[in-house]
Amino acid sequence: MVEKLVIKGGKELSGTLRVDGAKNSAVALIPATILADSDVTIEGLPDISDVHTLYAILEELGGKVHANPDAVTIDPSNLVDMPLPNGNVKKLRASYYLMGAMLGRFKKAVIGLPGGCYLGPRPIDQHIKGFEALGATVTNEQGAIYLRADELKGARIYLDVVSVGATINIMLAAVKAKGQTVIENAAKEPEIIDVATLLSSMGAKIKGAGTDTIRIDGVEQLHGCRHTIIPDRIEAGTFMILAAAAGSGIKVENIIPAHMEAVKAKLVEAGVDIKMDEDSAYIGKSPALKKVDIKTYAYPGFPTDLQQPMTTLLAGATGSSVVTDTIYPSRFKHIDELKRMGGKFKLQSRAAIVTGPTQLIGATVTASDLRAGASLVIAGLAADGVTEIHGVEHIERGYGRIIEKLEGIGADICKVTHVEEVV
Ligand code: EPU
Repeated sequence: MVEKLVIKGGKELSGTLRVDGAKNSAVALIPATILADSDVTIEGLPDISDVHTLYAILEELGGKVHANPDAVTIDPSNLVDMPLPNGNVKKLRASYYLMGAMLGRFKKAVIGLPGGCYLGPRPIDQHIKGFEALGATVTNEQGAIYLRADELKGARIYLDVVSVGATINIMLAAVKAKGQTVIENAAKEPEIIDVATLLSSMGAKIKGAGTDTIRIDGVEQLHGCRHTIIPDRIEAGTFMILAAAAGSGIKVENIIPAHMEAVKAKLVEAGVDIKMDEDSAYIGKSPALKKVDIKTYAYPGFPTDLQQPMTTLLAGATGSSVVTDTIYPSRFKHIDELKRMGGKFKLQSRAAIVTGPTQLIGATVTASDLRAGASLVIAGLAADGVTEIHGVEHIERGYGRIIEKLEGIGADICKVTHVEEVV
């Protein structure tokens, strides 16, 4: 069976888009519950396939997962340290958080090398450096990472690369280690603060999350708690860009404005009309947009996860914009698809040059990864005619109820399932 999204572009889009809980927090918060000895309830998790895959993994390990629309309760008390070399762990990148969490709880773990979006090489050497510094032996055997430790002891760990995943993974492994761990050159993304907040509510002692030095004093035991996830700043940014590219007045609600500074600044520079409120952004019908140059950086810089949606928007702006991705220099697989829709792009090392304004035209395209998918959905909404997007499973990994949400603002979008034709 093959699924595709079919979008009839050029509709008048207005109304409200509500942002869900942050995917990149959710995929760390769920593994973090492994470290507790009783029920952890998390409110506001997004309804996306990565979250469902993690529930399935916890159930495979003997955890109990009670998921309601508003909150999930995870009982980790009967979890076992079963090896997970294959299967569900291969479906998402964030399964690497099972390494830190299981190492922290059981002092051992076997986790298949993670899957997820292919954005060029995505090494995990900094995660491993951290685990080893805490006293673990880490080996890679036939595509799975084996971690073992007699005891985990706090250590001073300097990250050679600012990494969200390594920062969170080391926190997970260190919260129950003996003594103090200091992570230097830590990433500062809001998702790291969210995970530290959950761990602190479970009884962990963490200081400095959100700065580049995090100090963790190990504790013996972590208990259950209740936690509310932060809103997804990348879904929010995607919606703001979508509103600028194809909207006629759209409110994006459930945002933390401080998380949106870089995106807002670049949209304003391009001429987008934005009014921020306490927890929402209103994007008016955009006048003619101007070119802007974008360079992605670690937070609080412009996020790599919005680079692809932004290139779609800039196809409609006057002039040549240079979009450089310093985090994932080859995250440009959406460009060939946007070219099929009439976009004018040139690829250089690390950068795409987007020349506009171009009125995109509907075409059949394929999403190669999650944010490429988001960029194509925006393109389809802004284009004249019908766009068919294959690779829907990538989009569903990170955007919950996307069809329902877009229909709510007037989009003509549906998912079509058909049997693949054999030629
Ligand atoms: N890096 C290393 N070694 C490591 C880890 C990272 O060289 O051990 C490099 C990466 O190759 C990259 C840079 O460091 O060039 C930053 O990578 P980071 O570790 O921060 O990325 P990640 O933790 O694997 C998370 C998000 C990504 C997002 C990046 C950057 C999750 C599950 N994923 O990935 O989200 O692009 O941070 O902000 O949190 C997405 O949501 O579409 C997505 C890909």
